[in-house]
Amino acid sequence: MKRYLVQTMGCQMNVHDSRRIEEVLRAAGWEPTDEGALADLIVFNTCSVREKAEHKLMSALGTVRPFKADRHVVVAVAGCVAQQEGERLLSRAPFVDVVIGPDNIPELPALVEGALDGAPPIARTVFDLDDPRFLNATPHPSQPEVTSFVTTMKGCDERCTYCIVPYTRGPERYRSAAEIVGEIRALVDGGVREVTLLGQTVNSWHEPGGDTERPSEFASLLRRIADEVPELLRLRYTSPHPRHLTDELIRAHAELPMLPRHVHLPVQSGSNRMLKRMLRRYTREHYLARIEALREAVPGLTLSTDMIVGFPGETEEDFADTLSLVKEAAFVAAFVFKYSPRPYTPALKLGDDVPEDVKDARIQAVLAQVEVQQGAHLASLVGTEQEVLVEGKSPKGERFTGRTYRNEIVHLAAPEGVDPTGRLVRVEIESALKHSLLGRMDGAPEGMALPPPPRRALRLPVLDGKGAAH
Ligand code: SAH
Ligand code: SF4
Ligand code: F3S
Repeated sequence: MKRYLVQTMGCQMNVHDSRRIEEVLRAAGWEPTDEGALADLIVFNTCSVREKAEHKLMSALGTVRPFKADRHVVVAVAGCVAQQEGERLLSRAPFVDVVIGPDNIPELPALVEGALDGAPPIARTVFDLDDPRFLNATPHPSQPEVTSFVTTMKGCDERCTYCIVPYTRGPERYRSAAEIVGEIRALVDGGVREVTLLGQTVNSWHEPGGDTERPSEFASLLRRIADEVPELLRLRYTSPHPRHLTDELIRAHAELPMLPRHVHLPVQSGSNRMLKRMLRRYTREHYLARIEALREAVPGLTLSTDMIVGFPGETEEDFADTLSLVKEAAFVAAFVFKYSPRPYTPALKLGDDVPEDVKDARIQAVLAQVEVQQGAHLASLVGTEQEVLVEGKSPKGERFTGRTYRNEIVHLAAPEGVDPTGRLVRVEIESALKHSLLGRMDGAPEGMALPPPPRRALRLPVLDGKGAAH
């Protein structure tokens, strides 16, 4: 029996890729293990979006050194550091056997077999530009899920000056609507109730082969999914770019009940000067006008965001603009990051002139403000009744965990003997915690005629403002 262990270090895209890595390995006869000491193959699926993320790989590689000395274990590095460094990684970390880019996942089992047979270390990091492949999720029958990611596009054609992703993930390539709808249909038939569409700029989607100069066709993709898979309870997407938040998309939010009343819309900065230097291609005023239109179309819609503090040249005035935008936009959650200079990015030329202690103070100030807003928002829900899609047992304790239509996390008590996993249930909200709500299930779960509820250990990315999901 050959056993593998996959360690995921990056964003949702990276989480999605890890699942595909597991699937290609299982199809090739491998079995999972949680213990490094039992593994014949250890895969690190890496992230390089900030320097800290890249360091994580180097310290993780240190931990496998003893296994390497004892016996033959194959070490593979996948993901964005793999794509970024390629062969260089083989010389930087001599006990790495296989370096594999995000577009080369299907080749992994053969490369690992080669390494087990004594082949020299190898790097495969070739973008599939001419004939892009999108791996379908083929969930393990013993691990059915309530929620699932589905890829709509890969790569990024934006050139935000701080960001390494266009370099590590390549140019934008879109997946056909037919393929996307087909995957969602199969997932829903297997018990999935909520799908999150994934893409670096998910709302720039076009039917492949179409005219990408035309406005995005993302709204029509959402309508097609809603039409063709009406049993899907919720359809989320991440991450949209404010530039592609079209009127059509806003209209879809107003008209499709399947879309949640929550959007994660990265803003990065509230200062027009910084937005320009970041090459975000919108202004603070444009961003605020778009979210106002969204809120008009969908009353009660909440917003979360990504922000960078300490970008080169950020003055106290620029930062004050960011803080005032946090208030004006009334974000209820945010991932906030200190600027981290990345190789191959245009911003490198700007230096890194905001001192670390200033970056620290600014990140704390933004997080504190977001926390106040999140706390007030959660407190306003106490005493209300919310419709919650239950995702499974809470990691600790007797409760179950799910999310409301707006994305608030709810830990709920269910009546004795009732397992509401995979159901939409009405929950009376009893109290608010720092980042989530506590409640009690009200009556029997709806939709009892649905297929048996899926069961799976929970690993929820929590929007707690600490950047845990990136
Ligand atoms: N494609 C998505 C997310 C990209 S990476 C989008 O455009 O929204 C996730 C987040 O990491 C970004 O939104 C940004 O806030 C942050 N980030 C990217 N590069 C960074 C850098 N060099 N330093 C600090 N934060 C960075
Ligand atoms: Fe990076 Fe900007 Fe592309 Fe997002 S849109 S992945 S921040 S370059
Ligand atoms: Fe990291 Fe790559 Fe995602 S750099 S954030 S794993 S696309």
